[in-house]
Amino acid sequence: MSTLAIVLLLLLPFADAQSPLHICGNGVNYNSNSSYHSNLDQLWTTLPNNASSNTTLFATGTAGTAPDTAYALALCRGDINASACNDCVPTGIQDAQQLCALSKDATVYYDSCILHFSNANFLATIDDDVDLILLKKPISSQVELALFT
Ligand SMILES: *[C@@H]1O[C@H](CO)[C@@H](O)[C@H](O)[C@H]1NC(C)=O
Ligand SMILES: *[C@@H]1O[C@H](CO)[C@@H](O)[C@H](O)[C@H]1NC(C)=O
Ligand SMILES: *[C@@H]1O[C@H](CO)[C@@H](O)[C@H](O)[C@H]1NC(C)=O
Ligand SMILES: *[C@@H]1O[C@H](CO)[C@@H](O)[C@H](O)[C@H]1NC(C)=O
Repeated sequence: MSTLAIVLLLLLPFADAQSPLHICGNGVNYNSNSSYHSNLDQLWTTLPNNASSNTTLFATGTAGTAPDTAYALALCRGDINASACNDCVPTGIQDAQQLCALSKDATVYYDSCILHFSNANFLATIDDDVDLILLKKPISSQVELALFT
């Protein structure tokens, strides 16, 4: 059973698109030469394409074995096309790793997509019935994002 953990109201438009809204997770860091880092890199090779090729513009991924397992989720807004989704997710991957350098857990939010990765398995509690209420409707002045952790 999922419980609603976080509801964020994002006020748009972002005046400064240079710094997307981001949350640097749990305060735990990885070494740049760690297995965790290579597991993340492995996720990044397919996650953008998996998200943009899914009809729901949504993908999750898991790479590596404990204790270095990396989990990620990418979700594009429901009314954008696959190509815009495939642009947004890699931007999220880059920005998340820059804005939250070496953080094991990070989330970045854009008008068009969300990227979240973590060493904690937040995917296990995502409820398929409700996770995609996210971004299903066009965003005008305000977005409601419900994340389940
Ligand atoms: C990885 O980097 C850390 C600190 O930068 C270092 O202490 C460690 O020896 C390195 N490990 C490997 C396997 O290279
Ligand atoms: C595609 O999206 C559905 C939810 O709409 C999800 O259950 C499925 O895992 C996604 N596919 C991939 C490859 O992540
Ligand atoms: C993307 O989809 C392919 C095919 O379903 C799968 O093998 C791969 O693990 C997925 N990538 C991620 C990051 O989950
Ligand atoms: C996808 O959306 C973008 C942004 O709205 C647009 O520029 C592009 O032409 C669209 N591509 C396709 C294949 O519809």
